[in-house]
Amino acid sequence: MSRRVHWTPDVLEEIRRRCDIVDVISEHVALRCQGRNLAGRCPFHDDRSPSFTVSPDRQLFHCFGCQAAGDVFSFVMRREGLDFAEAVEALARRAGVALPEREASPAERRRRQQREALYRALAAAAEFYRRHLREGPAGERARRYLAGRGVAPETAERFGLGYAPPQWDGLLTALGRQGFEPAVLEQAGLVAGGGGAGGGGAGGGGGAGGGGGARTHDRFRDRLMFPIRDEQGRVVGFGGRVLGEGEPKYLNSPETALFNKRRLLFGLDLARAAIRETGRALVMEGYMDVVTAHQHGFTAAVASLGTALSAEQAALLRRHARQVVIAYDADAAGAQAALRGLEVARRAGCEVLVARVPAGKDPDEFLRARGAEGFREVVEGALPLLEYVFQQAAAGRDLATVEGKVAVVRQVVPALAAEDNEVARAAYINRFSARLGVPEEALRRELNKFVREGAGPEGEPPRRRQTMMEKTGGAYNKRNAWDNSRGFVQAGAASHAPDRPAPSNRAERRLLGLLLRHPEHLADAAGQVDPGDFENEDLRRLAAVVFEADGAPVPAEGAGFWQRLDDPALRELAASLVMEEEPFADPARVVADCLRWLIRRRHEREIAALDHAISELAAAGRPVPPELGERWQALHRAIRGASR
Ligand code: UTP
Ligand code: MN
Repeated sequence: MSRRVHWTPDVLEEIRRRCDIVDVISEHVALRCQGRNLAGRCPFHDDRSPSFTVSPDRQLFHCFGCQAAGDVFSFVMRREGLDFAEAVEALARRAGVALPEREASPAERRRRQQREALYRALAAAAEFYRRHLREGPAGERARRYLAGRGVAPETAERFGLGYAPPQWDGLLTALGRQGFEPAVLEQAGLVAGGGGAGGGGAGGGGGAGGGGGARTHDRFRDRLMFPIRDEQGRVVGFGGRVLGEGEPKYLNSPETALFNKRRLLFGLDLARAAIRETGRALVMEGYMDVVTAHQHGFTAAVASLGTALSAEQAALLRRHARQVVIAYDADAAGAQAALRGLEVARRAGCEVLVARVPAGKDPDEFLRARGAEGFREVVEGALPLLEYVFQQAAAGRDLATVEGKVAVVRQVVPALAAEDNEVARAAYINRFSARLGVPEEALRRELNKFVREGAGPEGEPPRRRQTMMEKTGGAYNKRNAWDNSRGFVQAGAASHAPDRPAPSNRAERRLLGLLLRHPEHLADAAGQVDPGDFENEDLRRLAAVVFEADGAPVPAEGAGFWQRLDDPALRELAASLVMEEEPFADPARVVADCLRWLIRRRHEREIAALDHAISELAAAGRPVPPELGERWQALHRAIRGASR
């Protein structure tokens, strides 16, 4: 497995040297010379014009259309849907570079052996359940149940569906005969009740040899079994459905060393190829939805294991798909979960659309009632996030009334605020205000108010007010401005500041891009600002890597730099910054301007916080410590000096 190989910067550099990015990309994209670069049609989106640029000098690619960017490893990751380790392996193989096998420590080896024992037990269990579904009288009810729900035997085979017989020790005995220890079966989440935690829900099934409560017994009994596999197709857990009515409807594997709900998507192993081919994933709620979807030809369908999409799941999808279509149940819970999933997927960098399954049906029922054609219409008619939010908000409201307008605006504004693309935001403001019959300006004011007052969308940390003007406002976070034990605490400079206003982002972006392209300015810049001065979260994280290594700056071309960027999103950001190539006659001057801008913003914030702290003290009738006053004066002098 890929985890066994390891690499050093030297090895990566060697691979990079031998795998020229132009050679690798040329195998997939027709490239033509265009100045110092090569250009072609982007393989990652539906590209009409050649927006895809490859720089032989920098060994980077960048698409001006869809913003895909990166080095040769990023390209292979995206193109083949691999993670970094897998991409390193693939390119090493291609280049004939031997990846050293790492000597595992005894502890590591033991852990690996344990995990492998779990994989083996789970595979054996899947086979056991599968056999019971295919043959034998006990499986007859399950076979009938599946047939009744329209699942073809081939589909059941493809998903490896199974049936857990009703006995309390069916699996325990059968796998015991194959040499699996009860302890291993328990660690795999297949049996419960032995010695320790136990706790597996007592599902249906007659209690044959069960006896005393503490005896080890099969966790899944008399249930239709859905094996849950990881991306590589290894079984890591199960969901078991009652045949008919009963509680719980689905019993799932407990969290184990291999089974982590947040990191798995049901069906991803089967959907991976289709997702990569179309660049689009279809995310559903339930096991049955996915099984039925695949059977009807929607082979890019996966399920989020019953919860709203997690950030981990979204990141997993993002590696394969640019676009995510969410097709949740039409009920209120489904709509809620869809909304949350949307936000998570959007933050992971996917383009998100919502398919509206008509009310009262889940995708599985809808597919069976209306067939592939009907469902295709639903998927093709999927709405972009903002449009969906608007329609959800408008549903059942009278937009002709003031109350209706106000209610819709209130729901739409947080989603508008979360939209990063200025052009898209402007377009939606225009569209929504027309539909509501309110002036654009009013909607824009509400939006600004929202951004300033920090009522963040659900689940997100509140957006900060813009600190420079907040002296006058009421919503200021007092704890941040003044902390009695530590004296002055810089307000708003760090963490969760909003991505807006745009001008600050522009300066941050420009500065970081220049530093990557002209590393000779790095040492100087690192002495004046630090990552905390970057307000945009991604830029801040990237700055942290760029400024890293105790002021020994890392040039963009160095393998070490790209290796440290293990987050694919940051690799993309870095590559696009390098490739953007704003043509400045005097980069040194622009660097200095940007630095001045960032420093000035920091000073202004500190002053605002000080103003606030001082007025609080004054209001409370307490003396102002002289350091505060001195600091205040020093900051004002600094600002005046800088603008001279
Ligand atoms: P649903 O209740 O929508 O079930 O839950 P479903 O998948 O449509 O199943 P059918 O059609 O009734 O057979 C959606 C998902 O939530 C998780 C499962 O992953 C399920 O597929 N779930 C639901 C559980 O884990 N446990 C439960 O008791 C219920
Ligand atoms: Mn269902």
